[in-house]
Amino acid sequence: MLNIAIIGTGAIANTHVKGYQQFPETCRIVAFCDIYVEKAAMMNEEFGLEVAVYQDYKEMLKNENIDLVSICTPPYTHAELSIASLDAGKHVLVEKPMASSLEECDRMNEAAERNGKILSVIAQNRFTNPMMKLKHILDTGLMGPIVHSQIDSFWWRGHSYYDLWWRGTWEKEGGGCTLNHAVHHIDICQWMRGMPSEITAVMSNTSHDNAEVEDISIAIFSYQDGTLGQITSSVIHHGEEQQVIFQGKRARVSAPWKVKASLSMENGFPQEDTKLEEEIQNVYNQMEDLSYEGHAGQIYNVLSAIEGKTGLLVDGRQGRQTLELITAIYQSSSLGEKVQLPLDPLSPFYTREGVLKNARHFFEKKTSVENFAENKITTGTFYNEN
Ligand SMILES: NC(=O)c1ccc[n+]([C@@H]2O[C@H](COP(=O)([O-])OP(=O)(O)OC[C@H]3O[C@@H](n4cnc5c(N)ncnc54)[C@H](O)[C@@H]3O)[C@@H](O)[C@H]2O)c1
Repeated sequence: MLNIAIIGTGAIANTHVKGYQQFPETCRIVAFCDIYVEKAAMMNEEFGLEVAVYQDYKEMLKNENIDLVSICTPPYTHAELSIASLDAGKHVLVEKPMASSLEECDRMNEAAERNGKILSVIAQNRFTNPMMKLKHILDTGLMGPIVHSQIDSFWWRGHSYYDLWWRGTWEKEGGGCTLNHAVHHIDICQWMRGMPSEITAVMSNTSHDNAEVEDISIAIFSYQDGTLGQITSSVIHHGEEQQVIFQGKRARVSAPWKVKASLSMENGFPQEDTKLEEEIQNVYNQMEDLSYEGHAGQIYNVLSAIEGKTGLLVDGRQGRQTLELITAIYQSSSLGEKVQLPLDPLSPFYTREGVLKNARHFFEKKTSVENFAENKITTGTFYNEN
């Protein structure tokens, strides 16, 4: 039986609790921790639990019975809390984004290796049926080499979203929608397509004058083989119509799921390749649905990996790659330059200090609230079919 502790009992922590509660034969929650200790106590009430509550994570980590720590705090705390948990001999499942700088990611990965513990970064969108199936289709190679990807990471957040004390600042949130919202799709992009060799990007803040950070960015990824990709990260898109589209030389596939294939007529104009479309559709139809989706799906993977039953799908190396792409978008759009990958410690954005010094500041944060009365949140679409 694995004993679980959760640090940070705000909005997303509920999803972790519900996730762990789906596996009562494998794990049980034994502790909640929050600097607002009353929020940790409320978690007990909400879920009918009576586990230990802590205000100071250092006290909590002294408990030798804790096996796995879920970190559900703001991004600027992720490195400190993860490293302390790993050094205390616990496995860690940290919320996205992995950290607020690449330097922090590197120290987190070193701590995981040093202690021989699992470090997983939340990327719950991978654990959805449309994304798992899309990944499988790409792996079959049926669509030919990928020549273009289009990622619309469209979200919508009102002005007051950035009033929460830690949001909307480079120091505490670490960035805007590119880091905190598109992180999901940027993870999907590098998981499915690999890393580009160069990034060109622009960003702006059009509608949130209570935030230092961007509310939209548009980036172009250039790959070693000369192919391209584009990603728009936004919290100004009504309807949050998120999609991921890959164009191969032979066919196009996407989440939400759609397959289209073209053959060339003698004059170069397109003619539908129904045979290939059917072949790809048949492979898609044969794939089984996941037993657990979203956070529960990733928690299942982490618990199974700790028990040695399966490999870890999202480790700290993967988390770092995603942050590397985001950091390159910030570097390119703040400094107005093309950025070559990989990014190393010489990048002006490698450290948190570097990000704070060099990232473009849009507005000053004027309002700051400790907590919202309403804790209900949404976590994006599940890519239902068009
Ligand atoms: N995966 C997703 O879909 C998703 C959705 C929302 C938020 N998140 C991520 O989850 C994290 C938390 O976001 P949230 O919306 O739940 O924020 P929140 O403000 O609602 O909750 C964070 C909690 O952490 C507590 N906290 C802060 N510093 C702490 C510390 N040092 N020790 C203990 N507790 C501390 C705060 O008091 C607060 O209760 C962020 O990294 C965010 O990006 C992920």
